[in-house]
Amino acid sequence: MSSPAAIVLAAGQGTRMRSRLPKVLHPVAGRPMIDHVLATLAAVNAGPVVVVTGHGGDAVEAALAAADDPPQTVRQEPQLGTADAVRVALPLVPDTTDQILVVMADVPLLPAAWLGALTDVQRETAAVIALLSATVPNPAGYGRIVRDLDGRLLAVVEEADADTATRAVDEVNAGTYCFDAAWLRANLGRVPLSPVGEHYLPDLVALAVADGREVRVVGATDPLLAQGINDRAQLAAAERLARRAIAQRHMGEGVTIVDPETTFIDADVVIGQDTRIEPWTILSGRTTIGEDAVIGPGSRVHDSQVGDRCRVWGSWIESAEVGADARVGPMSHLRPGSVVGPGTEIGNYAEVKNSRLGGRVRQHHFSYLGDAQVGDDVNIGAGTVTANYDGTTKHRTVIGDGAFIGVDTMLRAPVTVGPGAKTGAGSVVTRDVPAGKTVVGMPARPIEARRPRTEPPDA
Ligand code: UD1
Ligand code: CA
Repeated sequence: MSSPAAIVLAAGQGTRMRSRLPKVLHPVAGRPMIDHVLATLAAVNAGPVVVVTGHGGDAVEAALAAADDPPQTVRQEPQLGTADAVRVALPLVPDTTDQILVVMADVPLLPAAWLGALTDVQRETAAVIALLSATVPNPAGYGRIVRDLDGRLLAVVEEADADTATRAVDEVNAGTYCFDAAWLRANLGRVPLSPVGEHYLPDLVALAVADGREVRVVGATDPLLAQGINDRAQLAAAERLARRAIAQRHMGEGVTIVDPETTFIDADVVIGQDTRIEPWTILSGRTTIGEDAVIGPGSRVHDSQVGDRCRVWGSWIESAEVGADARVGPMSHLRPGSVVGPGTEIGNYAEVKNSRLGGRVRQHHFSYLGDAQVGDDVNIGAGTVTANYDGTTKHRTVIGDGAFIGVDTMLRAPVTVGPGAKTGAGSVVTRDVPAGKTVVGMPARPIEARRPRTEPPDA
């Protein structure tokens, strides 16, 4: 049994989005809408997959080319409707394929099981078309499934062509089909031009019925998941559903999510067992959280790795790495390029940018480390600032293992504080400090070990 080929329609203008970004690139749960559809097709082993592009084609093709397993693409110019889009794609589908799935790129939540159901029904009944329908509370905008008085399928009628009675039908075409490949090739050219100047793919239903061929309708068990996204309100609704499903999946895998309604987790986020996600937390992009960690309340972690047993309280972490057993926050900000070692504590109101901190560093109070390299077991006193920018260029600060940076130290980069060195409270360090030395003052100067007291002069 060969796997079905798939054609994904993504050439339409998406006028109702009122967007400069092509509709199918709008993200749902942090991934472009079309990526969800491609992932679903991969889940049922559909292939080859051909994506029809057109409106915003350059942007869509560039986004698809960046994928791990890029699909083939073909341009539809001009965009003369969904049947025309399939016509453009058909030459890229091998003749040996006997089933062709056609899916719309704007239905991101479509469950893989439904595609499986469509291909099974098509094969078992030798139907020329198996299509997905949904019964929805508000059918406006969809093609309606029109049946005779005995419930036998007659046609799919688009909103624009529907009379009042047809508009009242709440069973709609979900826009997902499995075709008998040979029949599709032979009959696609028969689709007439609609009153709005397009060739509608669902018009094949009426043609097949008139020919006495078998057409099967498979009802979607959850109509919300069959919804196409045409405007921003539907985009928000899809986002909400996707978010719920993602939270459900993590909870099933042993993650505690205290309040899924106020927790936002993107599709590609990985979370370890027994981690607890507190309310008002956003985990986005390619983020990985280890096991037994506590994230939130009120944290945002984006494109970052957070290790096992970390605690991230009310803080932002972007494109950064946090080692195991570290503590971040409350109210701290790890900016891109920051790497924090195991057991390190980044305290209240601390900012770290493009810096590498070793293990067990203590940066407990309001301070800024930028373009710095900090060893293990370093104490960063309250109010410490790396003056890394001279107005033109960024410079590096290096702090060795076991150094003790006193409160309110200003480190004027480029500068190196050696291992075990100390800076006094309020010092302004403008020159390198040798290992083990202590500097104080402004500009900071070494203080030597006290000389033995000389005898007081005779009275
Ligand atoms: C379509 C169906 C409708 C169904 C609904 C389900 C048609 C004519 N109507 O309507 O029966 O209820 O989906 O969501 O098929 N596209 C192209 N080339 C084109 C036109 C569209 O590739 O020339 C693509 C779009 O990018 C989109 C998809 O086809 O991904 C559907 O187009 P859209 O305009 O959203 O169709 P609907 O009006 O939603
Ligand atoms: Ca649509």
